Amino acid sequence: MASNGGREHWGSKLGFVLAAAGSAVGLGNIWKFPYVTGSNGGAAFVLIYLLFVLILGLPIMIAELVIGRHTEKDPVGAFKLMAGRSPWTIVGYLGVLSGFFILSFYSVVGGWTIGYIVKSISGSVAALHDSDSAKSLFSAFTSDPLQMIFYNLLFIVSCMFIVIKGIKNGVERWNKILMPLLFIILFVLIGKGLTMEGGLSGLSFFLKPDFSKITAASIIAAMGQAFFSLSLGMGAMITYGSYLSPNEKILNSAFYIVILDTLVAILAGLAIFPAVFAMNMSPQEGAGLIFHIIPVVFGNMPYGSIFSVLFFILLFIAALTSGISLLEVITAYTIDELGWKRQRAVLVFGSIIFLLGIPSALSFGVLADAKLLGALTFFDFMDKLTTNYMLPIGGFCIAVFLGWKYGLDKTIHELDPDTKIISLKELWAFFIKFISPVLVLILFIMLLRSDFIGR
Ligand code: PHE
Repeated sequence: MASNGGREHWGSKLGFVLAAAGSAVGLGNIWKFPYVTGSNGGAAFVLIYLLFVLILGLPIMIAELVIGRHTEKDPVGAFKLMAGRSPWTIVGYLGVLSGFFILSFYSVVGGWTIGYIVKSISGSVAALHDSDSAKSLFSAFTSDPLQMIFYNLLFIVSCMFIVIKGIKNGVERWNKILMPLLFIILFVLIGKGLTMEGGLSGLSFFLKPDFSKITAASIIAAMGQAFFSLSLGMGAMITYGSYLSPNEKILNSAFYIVILDTLVAILAGLAIFPAVFAMNMSPQEGAGLIFHIIPVVFGNMPYGSIFSVLFFILLFIAALTSGISLLEVITAYTIDELGWKRQRAVLVFGSIIFLLGIPSALSFGVLADAKLLGALTFFDFMDKLTTNYMLPIGGFCIAVFLGWKYGLDKTIHELDPDTKIISLKELWAFFIKFISPVLVLILFIMLLRSDFIGR
């Protein structure tokens, strides 16, 4: 459909899959997934999460990549091209706005990872031998306004630096080198956690479901986590799909991305929970969980400080490859729709995101008591607004638009030729029309009830 022949494309299939997986794999898997799992009762939550990844995440991932390649546009441009001047373009704008909101708090946690690289190098992580000292290190760090703002800025500037360089030389090159390293270090952590005394009870918390712990709120958290972790519902995958050349296979790539992302989340859980239980800590520590646990694991390990430096560098990189996909959505929109130069777009919007992130950066210190809606810090508010509301609404609209409004007949040729006995294309079409949107709708009604009526 699209005719802009000059659009930059990914250099290779592997480059694209790794970049899209790099967008998906990030703090969502290693920082968020363990603490959300811990706060929602463990294994039963994990099962529901996996189910949602399969029946919501995978079909919507394919839908976004299809829209992206079909139109070769940013999310706003894509909807303009496919729907003309109609309210559907709001979905594109909503995606760009989600990019702003998510990056504004994401970069705070990204900043923590940089801070912990510094702490690992300076030896303050290696000096931690118990969880109490790890907790006080973390809270002293996150309540210091100057450090929070400084590291937040550093993270955003790192994202800006790569996005300015563009797709092939910036985004693609970095992902290719760094993704594989992340796996190795996770395996080291798992090995250590499992051999700690008491570690096995952590394993059963993570793997043996107890369905009595499931509540409406945890089902909704699982849906939000699936969207967040897979980078869905805001057009990140539309944008990355728009740089995909016509001969790449979308179904096949989507499978790889989803499997990689899920694998990293599971490995992170396997790395964290045995250590949590071995150290007699509660899995419900909230956003500080991995920062309370992992430094102590390293602190009690031979060569721990080297591993710790390596771990936080890799976590930083994983966060960076997701952060750049968030910034790329906004950048692609301004380049495609407003005709801006890449550099100007990145500088202007990077700065705005930094400013928007300041209240989130201060949410663990001076603004800890400034609660919105009665209960949420600014950081929590941004997180909840995007994860539970904006991304699922975006995903729902994408599914309904493609399945019912634009028509699958016009786009299904974007998918790989079918050779299987059951047509994967038809299976996808069925899910994107009937299963995914209906499920999101039901969950959304549950969410509204629990957030507004249940109180
Ligand atoms: N998926 C990323 C992570 O898990 C976060 C993200 C969300 C990135 C939405 C882009 C879009 O860390």
